Amino acid sequence: MSDTRIRAAITGVGGYLPDYILTNEELTRMVDTSDEWIMTRVGIRERHILKEEGKATSDMAVEAVKSLFAKTGTKPEEVDLLVWCGVSPDMPFPATANIISDKLGIKNAFSFDINAGCSSFLFSLVTMAAYIEAGRCKKIVLIGAEKLTMYVDYTDRSTCPLFGDGAAAVLIEPTTEDLGIIDSITQSDGSGRKHLYLPAGGSLLPASIETILRRQHYIIQDGQTVFKSAVSKMADTTMELMQRNNLTSDDIAWLVPHQANLRIIGATGNRMGLSKEKVMVNIDRFGNTSSATVPLCLWDYESKLKKGDNIIIATFGAGFTWGAIYLKWAYNGIRDLSNGLTGL
Ligand code: UT7
Repeated sequence: MSDTRIRAAITGVGGYLPDYILTNEELTRMVDTSDEWIMTRVGIRERHILKEEGKATSDMAVEAVKSLFAKTGTKPEEVDLLVWCGVSPDMPFPATANIISDKLGIKNAFSFDINAGCSSFLFSLVTMAAYIEAGRCKKIVLIGAEKLTMYVDYTDRSTCPLFGDGAAAVLIEPTTEDLGIIDSITQSDGSGRKHLYLPAGGSLLPASIETILRRQHYIIQDGQTVFKSAVSKMADTTMELMQRNNLTSDDIAWLVPHQANLRIIGATGNRMGLSKEKVMVNIDRFGNTSSATVPLCLWDYESKLKKGDNIIIATFGAGFTWGAIYLKWAYNGIRDLSNGLTGL
């Protein structure tokens, strides 16, 4: 009997951002806010928005997966599982993953959605790793994609600067090398649901003229409570993961934090003892794209990553949901077979 351990590794990334850029300057013409407030309290300068009529989350996801396929030389028929995760599906059903698979001509895969608020990508990556480790799948496409701005009330200055749209996808494959997902912590506490939620449009409050007039199809957030919980949970979880894997700050090449607020990102990095250079940040350009923030970071920073790099991913989101993953990166720099870059 072989004792070779199978781990799940990310073997490629693709991303997509819609063209339209909403700047802080434009926001100041919509609500009573300023570039200075948004930059100092949150750290966002601009965010991308999907404005074209008739375009949905799945359309951005399709673009991200097309770029992933080109970069990794993957054919649609080779995929055996495709998962979309996030909070802004095309429609309540069928699953957005089914729609994405159809648009890409993926015929041999089963596909479904996962929603765990802004921890959707982290929880999904842990779930996908279990499919790989059990030997049930060989090529999984996991997508974090959001048309989050459809939930944004552009008359509410406390939430409208925060969110953006975007998509990123990763390919997950088995490896017997000492690479891939090593350990993880995933937690949730539904009593936090009253601090960050979308009141209407579900079975509790189906869409009606009244729910629209009461503006109940927009994000409600108690920012300070979410902020405090995010800082403590992300820091505690990453510290626990470091301790139980005997990792010091010197051992860690990168922290990939959910991008909700630069101050939360900074607090998590500080608690881990990391210098700023080791913390991935793109909230300034993309805002909070919920399930897409973590894979968009990996896509954005791909050229800097090296095979064997110790990476910690950490998230916090609606639910509440939070967690951390410890993984070893599986390749060097940009992997783009269409340009002859194997990354190996
Ligand atoms: O991704 C899922 C998880 N989400 C998060 O992690 C988000 C966590 N929360 C946060 O990032 C922050 O709480 C916010 C960015 C949402 C808000 O920042 P804050 O420092 O907590 O501000 P605040 O809500 O305590 O408001 C402070 C002041 C208030 O004025 P007063 O009452 O002190 O006079 C607000 O009315 O800032 C005011 N304010 C604004 N001023 C200018 C709120 N929004 C704005 C704005 N422009 N856009």
